[in-house]
Amino acid sequence: MARVEIHQLTKRFEGFVAVDALEIDIADGEFVTLLGPSGCGKSTALACIAGLERISGGSIRFDGEDVSDLEPHQRNVAMVFQDYALYPHMTARENMSFGLRQQRLDEASITRQVETAAEMLDLGPLLDRRPAEMSGGQRQRVAVGRAVVRNPAVLLMDEPLSNLDAALRVKTRTEIKRLQRDLAATAIFVTHDQEEAMVLSDRIVVMRAGRLQQIGPPMEVYRDPANLFVASFIGSPAMNFLEVETGRDDGALHCRLGDQVLRLPAQVAPGQVPDRAIMGVRPTDLMVGGDRGLQLQGEVFLVEPIGPVTYVDCNVAGTALKALCDPDRAPAVGDRVVLDFAPGRVHLFDPQSEQRL
Ligand SMILES: Nc1ncnc2c1ncn2[C@@H]1O[C@H](COP(=O)(O)OP(=O)(O)OP(=O)(O)O)[C@@H](O)[C@H]1O
Ligand SMILES: [Mg+2]
Repeated sequence: MARVEIHQLTKRFEGFVAVDALEIDIADGEFVTLLGPSGCGKSTALACIAGLERISGGSIRFDGEDVSDLEPHQRNVAMVFQDYALYPHMTARENMSFGLRQQRLDEASITRQVETAAEMLDLGPLLDRRPAEMSGGQRQRVAVGRAVVRNPAVLLMDEPLSNLDAALRVKTRTEIKRLQRDLAATAIFVTHDQEEAMVLSDRIVVMRAGRLQQIGPPMEVYRDPANLFVASFIGSPAMNFLEVETGRDDGALHCRLGDQVLRLPAQVAPGQVPDRAIMGVRPTDLMVGGDRGLQLQGEVFLVEPIGPVTYVDCNVAGTALKALCDPDRAPAVGDRVVLDFAPGRVHLFDPQSEQRL
């Protein structure tokens, strides 16, 4: 397995910049996810790493060796696609053996490597079936098996779970994670699903319009988003945003919304804050009731029980805020409630630069 250094990677299609000076240093055995909305350049970046697209600028190194100009088969990478891309007339075993056979490996080694991968992926009983005789999840496991059986230096996966239904997606992602651990493989995974990225990754690379927005471990990206885009893209339900007017008083920061004021204590307030800022707070850091000292009042307009918790949507001075509440003490639509903020979990953003303050 390999360390992957992506340096100033740029890909242009005619004049259009699909990937813009991407900089990522991936450690040997690390699981890194490229996350971002449709069209942000995730697949293009992955195709450049695989060698399926020629790069327009920058470099890609595997264990120090510059592979930027190598053909895909010279790079020792394996790729798993969204649509499995299995050969329909071949059994799972034949699909998984295909690459090894092309490498002219002896039959005994082929059998051993295929069976080892099949065991890791729980595919033993399916080895003699054709793709048409398997479920979507099973097919995708065969596709993953085919990729890992060659012991690639880097395992690349482009939305491998998105054709599966919700339950199967959760199950298969656990299997992929376990397999990657067992193989100690360097993995680069692409998804637009932030939860998938959070669960799977050692580090997440958040992209927007070809540009890197933030790179870090899942909880760091979740807790300390670099900017408004990352804050709004990561986390479900999404972070609440409020436009506030700010002022200082004894070191505390006043954030005014309509005729209500939230006083952020000096120890949790950023130093330099413009007169107008955007405040962000996650629904899970905003409780109906509670008394941590930071409160706004609002009127309930929607109650959403989802089982373990209930979310309550409130109107606070014309802004809709989603908050968490105890399912046994849910208010009714029309009730006036107190929304209690977790003091250390209130974020402020500059409305111009959109950077977190
Ligand atoms: N061969 C191509 N020629 C021209 N433009 C392309 C080509 N391939 C991709 N693009 C453009 O580059 C941008 C990035 O595309 P890419 O497929 O990398 O996005 P993505 O992040 O993988 O999106 P999705 O989540 O929808 O798969 C898009 O605007 C796309 O239209
Ligand atoms: Mg894509």
